[in-house]
Amino acid sequence: MIIAIDGPAAAGKGTLARSLAKRLGLAYLDTGLLYRAVGQKAQRQGLTPEEAARSLTAADLDQPGLRSEEAGQAASKVAAIQEVRQALLAFQRRFAAHPPPPAQGAVLDGRDIGTVVCPEASVKLFVTASAEARAQRRHKELRERGESSIYARVLEEMRARDARDQERAVAPLIPAADATVLDTTDLDADQALDVALALIASKNPA
Ligand code: DC
Repeated sequence: MIIAIDGPAAAGKGTLARSLAKRLGLAYLDTGLLYRAVGQKAQRQGLTPEEAARSLTAADLDQPGLRSEEAGQAASKVAAIQEVRQALLAFQRRFAAHPPPPAQGAVLDGRDIGTVVCPEASVKLFVTASAEARAQRRHKELRERGESSIYARVLEEMRARDARDQERAVAPLIPAADATVLDTTDLDADQALDVALALIASKNPA
């Protein structure tokens, strides 16, 4: 079973994907982390984004700072480059087809999982929420991590990142034609999980 979860920044994709993977015994791949690692590696090592993508290693995915807003913006910029996406595609597809044992399937989250990486996924969710709700969540998360954060700035940066991800020519952020849209504006994480589990059960009757 492959579950594809796409959507804009801070919509709750990661939390939902992780919970689904745990509940269903599936492997989980956070594909945004790959793009974050490429952006940060290029910046820190003075490489072109293409070079950073082609030479990406497991150690690059384990660097401090990858979850920062700055790394998110850098990721969104390198993600618009076709060669970078191409270099990361095979790894993502391999993970979906051959998840680390004992998992019998995988949950991948990102921007183009249902449209490009795993168009054959058995379940596709497009997780979204209002920009204000998403910015509030990210703002709270940053504060809880002890980082300074200004709500208006978080909202502005999030809008800029969403626009870049939606408007790029290659693999733009867009719901797959057969994706179910899950709006989490008024849902907490447990409620979103329940809706997703019900949907999965309806598509895979026992
Ligand atoms: O999910 P995230 O916020 O960690 O993603 C960071 C950026 O990486 C996002 O703004 C766009 C890019 N990305 C992408 O283009 N395709 C994916 N499948 C995942 C992320």
